[in-house]
Amino acid sequence: MTSTQDRPVDGAPAPLPLLLRSAAAGWSTYADIVVVGSGIAGLTAALRARELGSVLVVTKDNLSAGSTRWAQGGIAAAIGPGDSPDQHLADTMVAGAGLCDEAAVRTLVTEGPDALQELIDLGTRFDTAESGALQLTREGGHHRNRIVHAGGDATGAEIQRALVAAVHRAPDIEVVEHALVLDLLLGDDGAVAGATLHVMGEGQRDGVGAVRCRAVILASGGMGQVFDATTNPSVSTGDGMALALRAGATLRDVEFVQFHPTVMWLGDDSRGQQPLVSEAVRGEGAFLVDHDGRRFMQGQHELADLAPRDVVAKAITRRMRETSTPHMWLDARGFGEQKWTERFPTILASCREHGIDPVTELIPVAPACHYASGGVATDLDGRTTVPGLYACGEVACSGVHGANRLASNSLLEGLVFGRRIAADLARALPEGREPAAERRTPGLVDPAVVAELQHRMSEDAGVMRDRDGLARTLGAVGKLSADSRSIPCTEAWEATNLATVSTALLLAAQAREETRGSHWREDFPDTADDWAGHLDTTMESDGRLQVTYTRSTTPRGTNA
Ligand code: SIN
Repeated sequence: MTSTQDRPVDGAPAPLPLLLRSAAAGWSTYADIVVVGSGIAGLTAALRARELGSVLVVTKDNLSAGSTRWAQGGIAAAIGPGDSPDQHLADTMVAGAGLCDEAAVRTLVTEGPDALQELIDLGTRFDTAESGALQLTREGGHHRNRIVHAGGDATGAEIQRALVAAVHRAPDIEVVEHALVLDLLLGDDGAVAGATLHVMGEGQRDGVGAVRCRAVILASGGMGQVFDATTNPSVSTGDGMALALRAGATLRDVEFVQFHPTVMWLGDDSRGQQPLVSEAVRGEGAFLVDHDGRRFMQGQHELADLAPRDVVAKAITRRMRETSTPHMWLDARGFGEQKWTERFPTILASCREHGIDPVTELIPVAPACHYASGGVATDLDGRTTVPGLYACGEVACSGVHGANRLASNSLLEGLVFGRRIAADLARALPEGREPAAERRTPGLVDPAVVAELQHRMSEDAGVMRDRDGLARTLGAVGKLSADSRSIPCTEAWEATNLATVSTALLLAAQAREETRGSHWREDFPDTADDWAGHLDTTMESDGRLQVTYTRSTTPRGTNA
């Protein structure tokens, strides 16, 4: 790794649990490879890895419930006339605002078209033109039509359907649903030896158990539930990032959280997952207005309503503050019934379900947490800094997204890097090892503090940040994270994971004294050359988080 300016930055004010407190494992099992998560990244890896040995997929809800099925926009691939991987690379690097790893992006854009074809061969039905060619649309930041979609705005649901059907056709893949992976079991050498997990009602596998294995592939998605409002499903509580930290892995660039500008606003009290109104709606001509009907994006950016999503999110947040209102409005009345029905059936149904008819009415919208661009640091083969632990999809930081993910690159990333992990395991499946006696002190955060934590994170670590707000919330989260006497349960494990990733996010956001990509500091409004590097977070042996800045852009992976 080339590193010219490594330097530690302030550590967390309070220690966090080094392990989730739980009952002792009451059952055990074995699989060569454990996949945690069942979205596009996890199921792609599982379908490929089944040729290498026994595969166990562990998923928190049912096989179809993760983030992938909620993706509306589509999947980007340079397959259109006049397009090329180089142009896709250029657009991705611009969006990433100087922090993309070019080798990772090149891998994504060159392997993307083949990976997409594999998804089609698996049975995914993307929308086609009358000629039979795939329909390609454009989203913010792309200079070519290269977004493949399905069912109009139901791309993720169709991909998930096809992947789940493929898993059902592969009886050698074992699936455990309604199971939360708690922590990794590590060997004496710090390498992966297995994992502990809690299963709800799986017959003999009920309660806390242990699975021994040779490798774990983390594909558990993001951490949107850290905030009051998010497009992520309720399972996105940062479990993968938190357990990786506790196992000794490095998180990278977790301050870069993308807020989607147009998420349906359902009232002050509405919390958790909120309905997305795809950027593609603005791509087709819809526009934002304030409460007086004024189009406030004009003059803010040359692309007005189709400016990059962080610019739009910030403009909406500003206008909300200026007018002391909790949302703005999206005007798509010009589409008419037919276009709504054919192009955006999912969004139309979701609006109507909430009593809004977008054919004749404005849609209330506000920014909400959408995507974590940072995550568990990996190399080009998905290897983390913990031998035997791999990561792909939203939980990972592969270097593809940099400081801001380009629209519709995330499904592609899950697909490409899920395949690469399986290929790496095919080259060298790690040896199995005995778990060492556990020396990490367990702890738990009280689930009763979660609402307060989410509120503070939304106030001070959301779209707009500054030193005072971040310091205030870091102090508060430190207090909220104090070890509790809560009885071990899913809510307490999730609360601990939420507190852990919130602390990592706050520390990195506080350290990065500049504005770059999706990280907006009101007190440091400019991008600074000095900060053209990465913030890596690790957990020390006392449970405190340590953040280190390095200018290196070389991905790290040590389990060669
Ligand atoms: C959207 O459809 O607006 C979201 C697409 C994405 O996040 O890539």
